[in-house]
Amino acid sequence: MSATLYMPIPAIIERIEDETPDIKTFTIRPVEPIPFAAGQFVELAVPGIGEAPFTPSSSPKISEYMEITIMRTGRVTDWLHTMKEGDEVGVRGPMGRAYPIEEFHDREILIVGGGCGVGPLRSLMLALLEDLQHYARIIVRYGARTPDSIVFKDAQMHGWGQGDALDVMLTVDEAAPGWNGHVGLITEILEEDYLDCHASDGIAVMCGPPVMMKFGTDKLLERGYHPKNIYLSMERNMSCGIGQCGHCRLGRYYICKDGPVFSYQEVQANPRLWDD
Ligand SMILES: Cc1cc2nc3c(=O)[nH]c(=O)nc-3n(C[C@H](O)[C@H](O)[C@H](O)COP(=O)(O)OP(=O)(O)OC[C@H]3O[C@@H](n4cnc5c(N)ncnc54)[C@H](O)[C@@H]3O)c2cc1C
Ligand code: FES
Repeated sequence: MSATLYMPIPAIIERIEDETPDIKTFTIRPVEPIPFAAGQFVELAVPGIGEAPFTPSSSPKISEYMEITIMRTGRVTDWLHTMKEGDEVGVRGPMGRAYPIEEFHDREILIVGGGCGVGPLRSLMLALLEDLQHYARIIVRYGARTPDSIVFKDAQMHGWGQGDALDVMLTVDEAAPGWNGHVGLITEILEEDYLDCHASDGIAVMCGPPVMMKFGTDKLLERGYHPKNIYLSMERNMSCGIGQCGHCRLGRYYICKDGPVFSYQEVQANPRLWDD
């Protein structure tokens, strides 16, 4: 096992961008490159405070620096949100199982994101966009609470910079003045009226809050996606990140080691699948 899984590599916070009132994207530059694959995660250590797992939101083709999109929810994330450009953090990783991206070749890929879940999906998205010719079609369906809480708003509103090459649709739970897009839950824009897809052999990838993943998965199954072709990025409280402490157990799996990416087929039997 690599030393970087035990010992954090020092990294400097190079840039901090506000995405929404409670989500920021941090660009960090480690003292040595950290190669990762889309879907893998790192443990980010804040000296004297603690560490927490995050999935990079930047392209996996870049290892010299890494972007991580972080929502404040508690001790470590609150502290990270007070940090400044030039401050130091530590990075352990990468850890866990990535998306099986070679299996996606020549297929239609539907990316479904909710809230901050689009951070981890952006890394996959950038990997797909860099080799667009390998995929039949890429569709994005994203839901946020309000227009102000849409993450990567510019990129999403402008089709991730690819013009008509991608089919992107956003929805918000509650509209606000100036919002002309759809209003309603993410499951609505997965309905036939808003999503023309080849469900029987398409790949669907989802990341977001557990309740959104639960109802989103039900909708995808109803639309005809096969459980083995629905990929979920699971999040649980973690500690060691390397399959030793048991904190992240999901039935016979450890999310840190066997996941965080699972096909729905692998985990569907677990009655605690959608627990927070
Ligand atoms: C593989 C993986 C990838 C992740 N990627 C991202 C990411 O890209 N961006 C991001 O913003 N967050 C991500 N998370 C969630 C992030 O790790 C938690 O928000 C963070 O650990 C909270 O730490 P804290 O010290 O700030 O909060 P705490 O003080 O530990 O807890 C605050 C609240 O959040 C809950 N909580 C703590 N950890 C988690 C967790 N892992 N999942 C769900 N609830 C939790 C606690 O039960 C508590 O209610 C990821 C989690 C995992 C497991
Ligand atoms: S976090 Fe320790 S076993 Fe997964």
